[in-house]
Amino acid sequence: MNIDSSSDEESSYLHHVITGCKNPKHVALTFDDGVSQYTDELLDILGQNRIKATFFVLGNTLVSETANKKTLIRMVREGHVVGSHSYDHPDLTELKTDRIEKQMTQTDVLIQTIIGVRPRFMRPPYGYVNEKVVNNLISSGYLIVNWNHDTNDWKYQGKYENIVNYVRDEISLAPKKGTLGPIILQHDSLKSSIKLQTEIIRILRKKGYRFVTMYECTGERPYRL
Ligand code: NI
Repeated sequence: MNIDSSSDEESSYLHHVITGCKNPKHVALTFDDGVSQYTDELLDILGQNRIKATFFVLGNTLVSETANKKTLIRMVREGHVVGSHSYDHPDLTELKTDRIEKQMTQTDVLIQTIIGVRPRFMRPPYGYVNEKVVNNLISSGYLIVNWNHDTNDWKYQGKYENIVNYVRDEISLAPKKGTLGPIILQHDSLKSSIKLQTEIIRILRKKGYRFVTMYECTGERPYRL
């Protein structure tokens, strides 16, 4: 039937989108929409907890802000992984192919100028993809990363309990064999999210998770020249 074949087609491109870690005991904290004025404080917290994370950065945060460029260098120096989140956060499914490519290339050039390498991992703005976007990104050499756990931190700004309860109750109590490890979506562009990290890390650690970057989460190298 038609319905079946269309869902087959859907899964054929969606299986290129990474949503969890290979090892069920691995958890990847991922932060989008930076580099921001709050990112350094987050790096302090991650450092205090000896945790590495992944940052999907926007190209337009790296154009003129010297402080943000320094923060990007610090990220890499401290063992975190930098991925691309496009230049200025458009819905890529609404763009023509050349505009998608421009969004990605512009960001790569900015990142490469600062840290010397281009990211392989990318996260589509809003997590929105379609077949055209996926094929375009894959053929340009990107690894597309969405998530399997969304804290909705943008919606619950300042509502501390909603986010902490989500992490405590919805991210499985103990990692199970045969399942994918969590990739958790948060935003380092939000001041309110930074404050929560100590508690979120404590909860996940107690559940028995090991914190990894997208490199360990997938086994794929994070950069190219
Ligand atoms: Ni975003």
